[in-house]
Parts: sequence; structure tokens; C-alpha cells
Amino acid sequence: RRYSRITGTGSYLPPRRVTNDDLVAELAARGIETSDEWIVERTGIQARHFAAPDVPASELAVPAAQAALQAAGLQASDIDLIIVATSTPDMVFPSTAAIVQHKLGIAGCPVFDVQAVCSGFVYALTVADALIANGTAHKALVIGAEVFSRILDFNDRTTCVLFGDGAGAVVLEASDTPGILATDLHADGKHVGILCVPGHVSGGQVLGDPLLKMDGQAVFKLAVNVLDKAARAVLQKAGKTEADIDWLIPHQANIRIMQGTAKKLHLPLEKVVVTVHDHGNTSAASIPLALDHGVRTGQVKPGQTLLLEGVGGGFTWGAVLLDL
Ligand code: ACO
Repeated sequence: RRYSRITGTGSYLPPRRVTNDDLVAELAARGIETSDEWIVERTGIQARHFAAPDVPASELAVPAAQAALQAAGLQASDIDLIIVATSTPDMVFPSTAAIVQHKLGIAGCPVFDVQAVCSGFVYALTVADALIANGTAHKALVIGAEVFSRILDFNDRTTCVLFGDGAGAVVLEASDTPGILATDLHADGKHVGILCVPGHVSGGQVLGDPLLKMDGQAVFKLAVNVLDKAARAVLQKAGKTEADIDWLIPHQANIRIMQGTAKKLHLPLEKVVVTVHDHGNTSAASIPLALDHGVRTGQVKPGQTLLLEGVGGGFTWGAVLLDL
């Protein structure tokens, strides 16, 4: 059978870095009280990056994709599939992937977005793996790109301190050997209300609330349990055990969720790639951003076994086990 393998990673953060103290001051001007101590203690977040208001997700996706192409030693013209995971697309339609394709200067290959919120990257990677396995594609760009700053309610201190903007990308190529060892995806739509942006466009207006709403405690409780199940499922499918994992690269929502997941898998925190302190929660971009960070800092090395796992609105969750 045909397998798929990651051959290059890349990422991009918008230049404006907002520390907790910067945010505390901005919120104080609105009469909203929070503190660096509260944010660090509850989430592990110390800073996040925000894109300028006129910079859409595709503008973050393109430099991340170019960095991944360069790492893989490929040109954009070599790519025959682009999937962008995003919940903050440039437009209602067409897809951000179509916009990215054009900005990369290529045409003709299939492109589409995947919308699974913070699980978007593991969903997109799973779809790309399947399209490579069945011969539809040979060299895919899989990108997570988000501008969550657009949908944050800066009058709601329980959510606006958590998120950031950014993009991460991988090149996934057909290979005779894996690569991706196992994937596992799930969703349960009964939890739509605990994490959503309920508004929609109708009759030329946004109807309903266009900003993010979250029941943080409900999300927290669900997240640790479903992540553990997804992790165990991919290990079982691949005939591996917890001891085979070199690095856990989880969705970077909250350090306490990551600690809880690592503990359940009997993994020390030294085996977890952590970027949440510096990026905040960048939704679908967080896993490829963390992966690229791990690769470029030399933490994560070729040949190692990585467990990628995500959880987010929907509720959606999933995991990908792979050899780099
Ligand atoms: N600054 C100061 N105080 C705050 C802030 C803030 N930014 N936000 C909330 N508080 C207050 C609350 O008002 C509350 O005050 P009260 O006790 O007087 O009522 C107190 O802090 C405690 O609030 P809780 O909501 O109970 O705090 P909790 O410990 O649950 O932490 C948090 C909140 C960080 C959101 C937590 O529930 C969490 O991490 N949930 C997971 C959600 C998550 O990570 N979502 C990301 C998106 S989904 C995903 O990616 C998986």
C-alpha cells in the first residue's frame, strides 16, 4: 500500500506580540479586570500574537506553506493538493485554500478547507493521508491558519485572554514506508453550545452573535477524556504502546489540559512540545505551529514517533500517530 510521510514543516506568526501585561492594560482601558497571574496560573499563557485587522488567515498560511516547501526541498508547482484547516476563513466562500493556492502562484490541483475548529489540523492531516493512500495526491500541503483575534469578545475576560493568531504547515508526500501510522477522528454535535460562534450571515447582515462563546469548565472536562481515548485508539491501531511515543504534540489550548493528557499517558512533560505560553491557543494552527517549533529547535528529530492530538468546537476530537 501507499503511505504518506511529512517531509517538511513551516510556520508563521504575525509580528505583533501581545504579552499578558499588554493585554491586561488594553482590557483595563475597557473596564475589564484581569491579571498576568490569573492567566498564567489557569492557562500557562504568557503571550500571543495578533494579526493586524486587515490581515486574513491566507496571509499567515502562505509564509508557513513556503517555509514547509523549502524544508521539503519542493517548489509550489510540485504540490497537487492543498487543505487548509481554519475556522476563521478569509471569506464565507471560496475556501481559504483556493486563495492560498493562487497566492502561491499555482493552479489546477484540488483545494479545500476543513472546518473542525481546534481539531482541524488532525482532521486535515487524516484526509490528506487518505487521499495520498488512494492515489489522488502525491505531494500535499496541509495547513492550519487562524485569526481568532477577529472573533474574540474583548469584553469577555473568560475567553479573550486565551487565543492567538498564527499558521503552521506541513508537506505530506507519498512514500513506500510510513509516515503516518494511524489516525482516529470523532465528533459529537450535542455539545455545539459549549464552544461556538453562533452568528451567521443572512440577508446582507450578520444575524446572531459573531463572537466566540465558551463554557470553559465543560470544555475542560470533555477535553482530557476524549484526548486520552483518541490517543489510545491510534496506539492500538498501530500496534504501539505509550512507551513508543517520543513526543506528544497536543493542541495547545491550556497547559493544564496538556498536563492532564500527558499524565494519563504516563508521559513526563519533557516529552510534550509546549508552545502555549508563547502562542496562546491558535486553534487549528496550534499543532503544526508546535510541530514546526519542535523540529526547528532540534527537539523533534527525523525517525521519532509523534502523537498529534486535537480537540475543539463541535465537539470534535482526534489523533494522528506518525513516524517523522
Ligand atoms: N481574569 C481574572 N479572572 C477571571 C478571568 C480572567 N481572565 N476569567 C475568569 N475569571 C474569574 C471568573 O469570573 C471566576 O470568578 P468567580 O469565582 O468570582 O466567579 C474565576 O475566575 C474562576 O473562573 P472559572 O471559569 O471557574 O475558572 P477556571 O479555573 O475554570 O478557568 C478556563 C477558566 C481557563 C477557561 C478553564 O476553564 C479552561 O482552561 N477551560 C478549557 C477551555 C479551553 O482551553 N478552551 C480553549 C478552546 S477549546 C479547545 O481548544 C479545546
